[in-house]
Amino acid sequence: MCHHMATRVAIFTWIVVLTGNGTVTAGDSETAAERGRALLTGKSFIGPSWSESAFTKAREFWGHDAPDPAQSPEAYAAAFASRYGLHPAPYPNDGLPMGLRKATSADGKRKGIQIDCMVCHGGSIGGTSYVGLGNSQLDLTTLFRELNLAEGRAFVPIPFTLNTSRGTVNAGQMSIFLLSLRNPDMTLRAFPVSTGASLPELDVPAWWILGKKRTKYYDGRTDARSARSNMQFAMGDQTLDQLKAIEPDFRDIDAYLKSIKAPKYPFPVDADKAHRGEQLFAKNCVRCHGTYGPNGSYPSKIVPLDVIGTDPRRATGITDRFIAHYNSTWFADYKADETLVGYQAPPLDGVWATAPYLHNGSVPTLYHMLKSSERPPRYRRPPSTSFDHYDPVKVGWKAEPVTAPLDPKTPQPEAMFLFDSSRRGLSNKGHTFGDKLSDEERMDVIEYLKTL
Ligand code: HEC
Ligand code: HEC
Repeated sequence: MCHHMATRVAIFTWIVVLTGNGTVTAGDSETAAERGRALLTGKSFIGPSWSESAFTKAREFWGHDAPDPAQSPEAYAAAFASRYGLHPAPYPNDGLPMGLRKATSADGKRKGIQIDCMVCHGGSIGGTSYVGLGNSQLDLTTLFRELNLAEGRAFVPIPFTLNTSRGTVNAGQMSIFLLSLRNPDMTLRAFPVSTGASLPELDVPAWWILGKKRTKYYDGRTDARSARSNMQFAMGDQTLDQLKAIEPDFRDIDAYLKSIKAPKYPFPVDADKAHRGEQLFAKNCVRCHGTYGPNGSYPSKIVPLDVIGTDPRRATGITDRFIAHYNSTWFADYKADETLVGYQAPPLDGVWATAPYLHNGSVPTLYHMLKSSERPPRYRRPPSTSFDHYDPVKVGWKAEPVTAPLDPKTPQPEAMFLFDSSRRGLSNKGHTFGDKLSDEERMDVIEYLKTL
């Protein structure tokens, strides 16, 4: 088997074929968004990568005792979720954590488990799980490695770094890799198209801001009406006809994603402070982030790299050649913008719940967002999303700065708790628009942000 084939098979072990074994039936009375939620949480779009026993065998690789999955399945599922940074599913999921699901191969012969969108797009905060909260705990590298080991696959090469820290994930490079294996008519290529594109690991955006956006993804180069672009993770080695067959499902899923609303801040808010903060926000922030409330308007503004000053690698990692290739394929129901500008200023709805901040998750709290000189260059990610680790003053995760070098003997899963902004793509610089505020003004703006 040539190198490219080996790599391709490796990738296909986790992003595979359409099974079409969905048990979801949608009645006519349902809205597209309701159908979309049922499909997203109930249907398996890709066949299994691992057998069901891999789920319970994974504990053999943890290096510590685990609850007995036969005696206490719930305790085992919780320990599994904590190991890899997953969360309880807020919908029926066969006892599996959100982000894993039971799956059957297209021919119905192989049964097992697979990841789904919620492995990255399902999170929790303060003990409540949300479909659409970016997963700020995920360690996809360790999840894949230990499920593969449990399956008896010693080494499955992945041609790029998935994550060096918990909560960031290189989803963009996964999509680029899959698309580079396709011709414009979606037939599979023997050798990948060379696009030169190279993306870093990223924080996962909340789905509840999508409904406001005219353009999407961090660089804002894709029309938000595009539903096919959401199918990149259901691509596997499906034929064009197979992709066309599931496109209506993905239209419904897109309608659902755009219907999700942000959860409300659960702690008390000082109304006077928040009111002062709103005025400061109007002066300093609205031109990029828009206004909120019933008559709110969001400008979908893409800010040039030299103005925003945040890590450029996500934006510059997309090459003209990649855009040309993307635009030549079936996925481009709307053509991606050929011009590189920078990063889109996101809507700030529910921003209290989406720490860490920036597209690369380099900033642990809103306070640090608005005072760039105090951002910790290296810090520990919280051990869980319990409110014990939440800072309601600075708003975000309590971030313990780390100065000592990492002991090289630290096991990789433990080392993943360290976020190091000196790594590729993870710079915590830029977005200095809050620096000129006084400390009191800054706290007023933060109080207002809690209300969004
Ligand atoms: C491996 C993790 C991962 C998986 C799996 C994943 N996503 Fe994403 N998703 C991301 C990341 C990271 C981004 C930000 C990408 C960027 O803008 O560069 C993103 C962005 C998006 C966006 C754009 C959001 C915005 O506001 O601009 C949509 C929509 C989306 N994903 C839908 C899906 C759907 C539907 C699935 C399942 C078919 C899925 N994703 C699977 C990680 C993932
Ligand atoms: C010139 C445009 C601009 C101005 C002015 C601006 N921002 Fe931003 N903001 C952005 C962009 C662009 C991003 C995304 C940058 C990135 O991820 O690299 C961002 C990101 C953020 C984020 C992180 C969102 C997340 O989910 O990670 C917060 C919070 C934020 N801004 C708050 C503010 C506040 C508060 C102000 C006013 C004090 C402000 N911004 C002023 C453009 C702006």
